Amino acid sequence: MSGLFVVLEGGDGAGKSTQLARLAAWLREAGHEVVVTYEPGDTALGATLRKLLLDPASGDVSPRAEAMLYAADKAQHVYEVVRPALDAGKVVVCDRYVDSMIAYQGAGRVLDAAEIRGLADWATGGLVPDLTVLLDVPVDRALGEKVDLDRLEAAGTEFHERVRSHFLDLAAQDPSRYLVLPGRDDRDAIEAAIRQRVQTLLAE
Ligand SMILES: Nc1ncnc2c1ncn2[C@@H]1O[C@H](COP(=O)(O)OP(=O)(O)OP(=O)(O)O)[C@@H](O)[C@H]1O
Ligand SMILES: [Mg+2]
Repeated sequence: MSGLFVVLEGGDGAGKSTQLARLAAWLREAGHEVVVTYEPGDTALGATLRKLLLDPASGDVSPRAEAMLYAADKAQHVYEVVRPALDAGKVVVCDRYVDSMIAYQGAGRVLDAAEIRGLADWATGGLVPDLTVLLDVPVDRALGEKVDLDRLEAAGTEFHERVRSHFLDLAAQDPSRYLVLPGRDDRDAIEAAIRQRVQTLLAE
């Protein structure tokens, strides 16, 4: 028996956590076993890696080192959390996955997006989500609502514009596995659109 793997993607403040909580509540209400998780950092090893990645004290982290730390987080997360849950027939709802790695690392312009994908796919053993919901929000709106900027958020508006277009490109490459929604639409409308798509997948 194999479960369902749903990923929420989008820039900082796009509404991922909001919709993830709503989707998980609805799925549980319908009687599904749901595992809510996130990347990076939702394993003991991953939490340590995430601290290293977000800590300004890490200084000028090499893009290749960063990519390998993210890849290590994914490898551990799939191995420890995602695969076992899917094998047990559960619905896994994950806040960020491979696309975030490609979008953020690729936006740094040092590493090629295809190379990053290769590394990420190796790390996950090629596990692809059944559905990725991309919440698309203009960059200034997403960042404008936040006060404290961590190391990644401090990287600048142009960087985040490139992140955004990477996300949209990935969705455009494989439309049957994506649902792209304007992240500043009404929360209830977004929730309903996600439900409808997930319902269809559950029925298959
Ligand atoms: N559809 C929406 N319209 C307007 N504001 C929203 C909407 N959805 C969420 N918000 C608000 O935007 C902010 C960010 O939402 P949320 O924390 O869900 O985003 P996120 O993508 O998880 O952010 P982060 O990347 O920081 O984890 C919150 O203040 C939330 O209440
Ligand atoms: Mg969040």
